[in-house]
Amino acid sequence: MKYVWYSEINLFWGENTMKKALPALFLCLVLIVGAGLAAGQGGIKKKRPLPPDYGKVVISNYSERAGLSPVVFDHWLHRAKFTCRLCHVDIGFAMKAGGTGIRAADNMRGYYCGTCHNGKRVFDGITVFQSCAKQSSGDAEETCERCHSVGKRVKKEYDFYKVTAKYPRERFGNGIDWQKAEEDGTIKLVDYLDGISIKRPSLAIQKDFALSPKVQGMPDIIFSHKKHTAWNGCEVCHPEIFVGVKRGTTKYSMVEIFEGKYCGVCHSTVAFPLLDCQRCHSKPV
Ligand code: HEC
Ligand code: HEC
Ligand code: HEC
Ligand code: HEC
Ligand code: HEC
Ligand code: HEC
Repeated sequence: MKYVWYSEINLFWGENTMKKALPALFLCLVLIVGAGLAAGQGGIKKKRPLPPDYGKVVISNYSERAGLSPVVFDHWLHRAKFTCRLCHVDIGFAMKAGGTGIRAADNMRGYYCGTCHNGKRVFDGITVFQSCAKQSSGDAEETCERCHSVGKRVKKEYDFYKVTAKYPRERFGNGIDWQKAEEDGTIKLVDYLDGISIKRPSLAIQKDFALSPKVQGMPDIIFSHKKHTAWNGCEVCHPEIFVGVKRGTTKYSMVEIFEGKYCGVCHSTVAFPLLDCQRCHSKPV
């Protein structure tokens, strides 16, 4: 077990850095094993999700009581079209599974999923199918099941592997380098919806900065405001995840990040996962 982790970390940082990095290595072992345990539930080790399932959210507050299956929302399909900011700020989805408390009535009035899934809005020449209705009967039932799909064998319109076949690759999460896909124009993100978003002057983007893990031999983290802003604007992070008035105000550690706080809000759920140590700890020692 120990040996396996050792060689995995060795792969990340190489033999020479290793010798200088013993304190960091020890912490890493503790952290990785800790993360493994935290991910396990009731003693059963949770399997790493398959690429299509990374970022999948099940929404299940009200459906079952109404005799319908809970709803599945796939981030991969939606984040290939829209910015995080559009949904999490303008439309107002919570950054927590089930946290929004979406009701069928909200969707029917054009909020939440119904902002786009209203049978009227058009993206890439496709009129987006409608969300909830008062009744599910006949043909409508099939539409309901496209979202109310937990436990149903629903044929998806968009197959993960077909849609993403030409996207740049990465090792973890969806197996896609989303950063690159956005930068090289493989995907073009919509950040504005008529009648929903407000045009406003964009704020000046802060410079990239390095965060020091304060452990000998552990590579610094380069945090790019510019790259993050393309997806998140400013408001997804400030002030809720990071107060962000002055660097250093928010104190955080890797353990808290593994618990799903700070960087871990996104980098354990939707953006590339924490297992990808050196994508953050990237500055050579
Ligand atoms: C089309 C809309 C949409 C887009 C685009 C979108 N999200 Fe989400 N996101 C949602 C919805 C809906 C939920 C579930 C909310 C609920 O259940 O109340 C969610 C949930 C989340 C959660 C909580 C996940 C969990 O397992 O608890 C995180 C974190 C998150 N989103 C981050 C992101 C990031 C980062 C991006 C951009 C890369 C993004 N989202 C893009 C709609 C969106
Ligand atoms: C910002 C716009 C937007 C929002 C908000 C949005 N979607 Fe979508 N969704 C789309 C578009 C565009 C498509 C692809 C077009 C189509 O096939 O109608 C799509 C497709 C889907 C599909 C089809 C998947 C398949 O392969 O058949 C499902 C399921 C889905 N969305 C669920 C949801 C759920 C659940 C919510 C709310 C929690 C939601 N969406 C919110 C824009 C949105
Ligand atoms: C675009 C996705 C989508 C489609 C399509 C959809 N729904 Fe929903 N619906 C949701 C979401 C999200 C919820 C909230 C789920 C939860 O918390 O359990 C929901 C909840 C509901 C509820 C729960 C009761 C309540 O008071 O909120 C009912 C009833 C419902 N939908 C009916 C329907 C019917 C009938 C259809 C088909 C005509 C349908 N929905 C199609 C997304 C969808
Ligand atoms: C992905 C999350 C994220 C996004 C998006 C983001 N920031 Fe930040 N911001 C941070 C983090 C992390 C820090 C450092 C905070 C800390 O260490 O307390 C920070 C710090 C700051 C600071 C203090 C800088 C300093 O050197 O003291 C300002 C000002 C700021 N952000 C403004 C913005 C603006 C303006 C935008 C949009 C253009 C933005 N941020 C987008 C995460 C983000
Ligand atoms: C609000 C969500 C969110 C938060 C919080 C967040 N990120 Fe990200 N980050 C993203 C998204 C989205 C991407 C695009 C790539 C992807 O999705 O895999 C990204 C990309 C990156 C990249 C690759 C791009 C680059 O700069 O080369 C690094 C490194 C990174 N994040 C580090 C961090 C660190 C460190 C923190 C905490 C200080 C953090 N992120 C907090 C959403 C977030
Ligand atoms: C999303 C970006 C990100 C990823 C991925 C990441 N880290 Fe970190 N790491 C950070 C940040 C941010 C800090 C805190 C920097 C500070 O103190 O300001 C940190 C700090 C640390 C520290 C210093 C001690 C502590 O607890 O703060 C260690 C050791 C560490 N990380 C190990 C790892 C290992 C091992 C992995 C892979 C399993 C990993 N990190 C993956 C962002 C990341």
